[in-house]
Amino acid sequence: MKILITFLFTTLTLFGSDFITPREYAKMLYENPRGISCKKCHGNDGSEQILGYYLKKGVKTPYKIPSIQNLSFEKFKNSLNQIKNAKSIMPNYSLTNEEIVSLYNYISQFNKNKKQQPINTKGVKNDK
Ligand code: HEC
Repeated sequence: MKILITFLFTTLTLFGSDFITPREYAKMLYENPRGISCKKCHGNDGSEQILGYYLKKGVKTPYKIPSIQNLSFEKFKNSLNQIKNAKSIMPNYSLTNEEIVSLYNYISQFNKNKKQQPINTKGVKNDK
């Protein structure tokens, strides 16, 4: 019995720290999803980014990436699920619905206007 308790205790202390909170999970997804990190193009918080500059009719023009903090879940999800047209530099990801919800809630928390409520994995808004 003593051995069993010692065993249980060491396994718990060794592996217990592996559990991460949903927020840590979402942050990890945002920073390192399968493929290239969202952060590389959308910044730390999904706000509008200037990726670089190009010449448009001789005028130095910024290449802007729109903010993704204010999108409805529908729009957010659709743009991650649709196959991008050739002009887009954003990669196609194969994310599950849960991953998209997690990313959406993570990015929405940076939105200062806070119009969105966190949504649950079924894509339905939580009442709380
Ligand atoms: C290589 C750069 C790049 C990476 C990496 C990237 N994006 Fe994008 N994203 C863009 C650009 C550029 C746009 C603007 C529309 C377009 O060109 O498709 C965009 C558009 C979007 C949109 C739609 C915005 C709108 O107004 O319709 C969403 C949502 C989005 N990105 C989420 C993400 C998430 C989540 C990730 C990571 C899983 C990610 N992006 C990774 C470059 C990137």
